Formats: sequence, structure tokens, C-alpha cells
Amino acid sequence: MRINDTVSARLEHLGAELRHGVSLMERTSLGIGGITDEILFRRYESIPDVMTLLADESIPHRFLGGGTNVLIADGELPYIVLHLATLHPGMRIEGNAAYIDASADLGGMVTFCAKRDLGGMEGLIGVPGSVGGALRMNAGAYGTSIGPHVREIELYRAASGELETIRGSDIRFDYRHTSFAPDDVMLRVKLELPPRPFKEIVAGIKVCNEKRRASQPLNQKSAGCIFKNPPGGSTGRMIDELGLKGHRVGDAMVSERHANFFVNAGSASCSDMLRLIDDVRERVHGSYGVDLENEVIVWQN
Ligand code: EPU
Repeated sequence: MRINDTVSARLEHLGAELRHGVSLMERTSLGIGGITDEILFRRYESIPDVMTLLADESIPHRFLGGGTNVLIADGELPYIVLHLATLHPGMRIEGNAAYIDASADLGGMVTFCAKRDLGGMEGLIGVPGSVGGALRMNAGAYGTSIGPHVREIELYRAASGELETIRGSDIRFDYRHTSFAPDDVMLRVKLELPPRPFKEIVAGIKVCNEKRRASQPLNQKSAGCIFKNPPGGSTGRMIDELGLKGHRVGDAMVSERHANFFVNAGSASCSDMLRLIDDVRERVHGSYGVDLENEVIVWQN
């Protein structure tokens, strides 16, 4: 979708930066996605006015975080994307509290806190994406997730049209799911973290990194796990037991290394990936009677 010159001028006046004809292939870890215009927010304070303008002009839009857990349709997209792009995402520590901008890199945040002797998030080190994306889906790995550490969140609430600060306890953080409204936009978070010597944190990080390197296809284009695990079960193990490693639709392929990672093994299209997802879901249902739920967020037109 393209923004016309009049709206472009008004957006720029509001302090939003506009990029025309951006390929979202380059914005996603899967390397899949169509083309559209993009608004970059360098300052969070401009968000409410920009959102009002987009509503007044009936311009459909979606917020894109780190692009590491999303599958986006191909071709010209019928919406624009919005992206928090603060040049130097704020991160600061006060006692046991870390105040982090949502646009910060998740791994960068873990390291920043570790260097200041605050731990508890060692497992998150290799999880790709932004702090905002991690908050929205309660990202986690190796027994750690971000939710339990959250004390306050500053966000833009589409429902009120305002920037608000809410308590962490007002949000439910479940397994890869939260009770944020779909159009809430995370801006900043206050985390409370256990003090731990840097050396100990680094040792914990090393263990997680080694496990991850041994089991996940880190050098291939993927969105991490495609499906959630069912309660008490392992999706990766089921897909593996069905002999589906290497199974492909076009260039969308079940990873040879971890069967719940689907990789873009060349120039996969969104429809290749969707067909592979449906195919595997049906096979797992046929053999195990389990209905797999997507972990990846799908943006179909
Ligand atoms: N397994 C297989 N074959 C495979 C993959 C896994 O047999 O191809 C078996 C493993 O041997 C193991 C069990 O399945 O016994 C579980 O595998 P793993 O330890 O790799 O964990 P997972 O449940 O598949 C979850 C998260 C990952 C996270 C790891 C480590 C989900 C959907 N996935 O994977 O998160 O990194 O644990 O904590 O919850 C993600 O969310 O995108 C993600 C990658």
C-alpha cells in the first residue's frame, strides 16, 4: 500500500520517517514478505498523533517488531507497516530494576543487564527479536520467560489513543501468550531482575548457547518454532517421528536439525510456507490426534 503525498507531508511534519516500497523480505528472519510503505518512529511521543492521522485517513496498518516470529504474505500488501526505530534504544539500571525501550534487541538487553550483575534471563540470550516482540508473546527458552520479570509497561493503547503505563501484574503472561490487546504497542518496560555475579550469568548463557547450537538451525532463515508445544508434549519430536525432517513444499522446508523449525531453503513464498504448515498440521493430527497451534504469527492479506 502506498501513502499519498499529502499524507506523507503530514506524517513528516509529525516527526515520523517514511520509507516507500519497502520489501518486508528484508525485515523478517524468514526472508518472506511483500512490499509496502513503512513508517519509522524515532520518538515514541509522536505515536498518538500519527495513529490519529492514520485512523482519520482510513489507512490500514500493522506494527512490525523484530520480524523474527512472523510470516507475511507476498506481493503488494494492503496495509502499511509501522516500526519503532529509536536510534539508540534506552537501557538503564536502577538498583535491581532495568528500564528498557521496546525497540532494543532482546539479546542486547540480556547482555546489558548481565554486565551490571543482573541475571534471571540467561535462557533468553539466543532468542532473536526485539524486547517489544518478546513482551507481546512472552518469549522464553530454557526455563526462562520475560513475563515474570515485568513490573511496569509503557505502551500505546489504541483503545484510548493514549500512551499509558500499566503494572506488569495487570497482564497475564502465559506460555507464548499474553493478555495484551492485539493493537497495544509496547514502548518501554521496567523489569525486576535477581542480582547475580556477571561470571555466573555468563556461565549460564554459555550452557544455553551450546544447547541451542546443538539442536536448532541457527544459520538458516526461520521464525524459530512454527508451532507451540501441546500441553505436556513436544511438537518437534512428533514431526520428527513422522519422518518429516527435510520435507518440503517449494523452498519451504522442515529443518533437518529441529523438526519444529521450518526454514526458507531458497526463495520460499508465503504460500509455500503456509502449505507446508497445513500439511504438517494435518499429518500430526492424523497420527497423534493433536491440533497444533501456530506459534508464528501469520499476516495474510
Ligand atoms: N526433538 C526431537 N526431534 C526434533 C526436535 C526435538 O526428537 O527435531 C525432541 C528433543 O530431543 C527433546 C524434545 O523434543 O527431547 C524437546 O526439544 P527441544 O529441547 O529442542 O525443545 P522444544 O520443546 O522443541 C522449546 C521452545 C523453543 C526453545 C526450546 C529450549 C516451543 C514451541 N519451543 O523447543 O523455543 O528454544 O524449547 O527451551 O516452546 C521458539 O519459541 O520459537 C523456540 C525455538
